[in-house]
Amino acid sequence: MTDLATVAAEASTCTACKLASTRTQVVFGVGDPAADLMFVGEGPGEQEDVRGEPFVGRAGGLLTQLIEGIGLTRSDVYIANVVKCRPPGNRDPQPDEIAACSPWLDRQLEIVRPKVIVTLGNFATKLLLDTKDGITKLRGQVFPYERAGVVARLIPTLHPSAVLRGGGQRLAETRADFVVVKRRLMSGDDR
Ligand code: URA
Repeated sequence: MTDLATVAAEASTCTACKLASTRTQVVFGVGDPAADLMFVGEGPGEQEDVRGEPFVGRAGGLLTQLIEGIGLTRSDVYIANVVKCRPPGNRDPQPDEIAACSPWLDRQLEIVRPKVIVTLGNFATKLLLDTKDGITKLRGQVFPYERAGVVARLIPTLHPSAVLRGGGQRLAETRADFVVVKRRLMSGDDR
């Protein structure tokens, strides 16, 4: 089977959408290629574009804290984004960019085969749950995920940037969602 490093090398020269012309580099993903828990964010920001790793800026610091809050480290999980290249000025990724990039995410999911997928914010949640419902309605709930032979549970939560903007209540909600994630990871019924 193809491994993640091979797919990352293929992705590093991707020109499937217009973000290729403004990126510093492709930000493919990071972490354990056999992780039980996989996070999917929106897209690289400025620092991620420079460093080539997802969630290394301010929002990334919060994500790391939330991961550590359930007794794990970044190296225990796998972290990726819906789009692998930074949208200029941190604008939202556009539908054609998401469509062009989603085969890379599908391949990451097929290789990692996580038991639990946590979608961070609206873009990842809408893409992977194929829903129009918003994150505030869906967060903290456990959904079945089944696509291309990958069978998992999907738990949406707020994007860490939204938590940083939203203050204490948002943080409390997100911590509660991470407790749901932890319970699901520990339960025998993990698929
Ligand atoms: N926000 C995201 O959605 N992804 C990152 O990698 C960083 C910030």
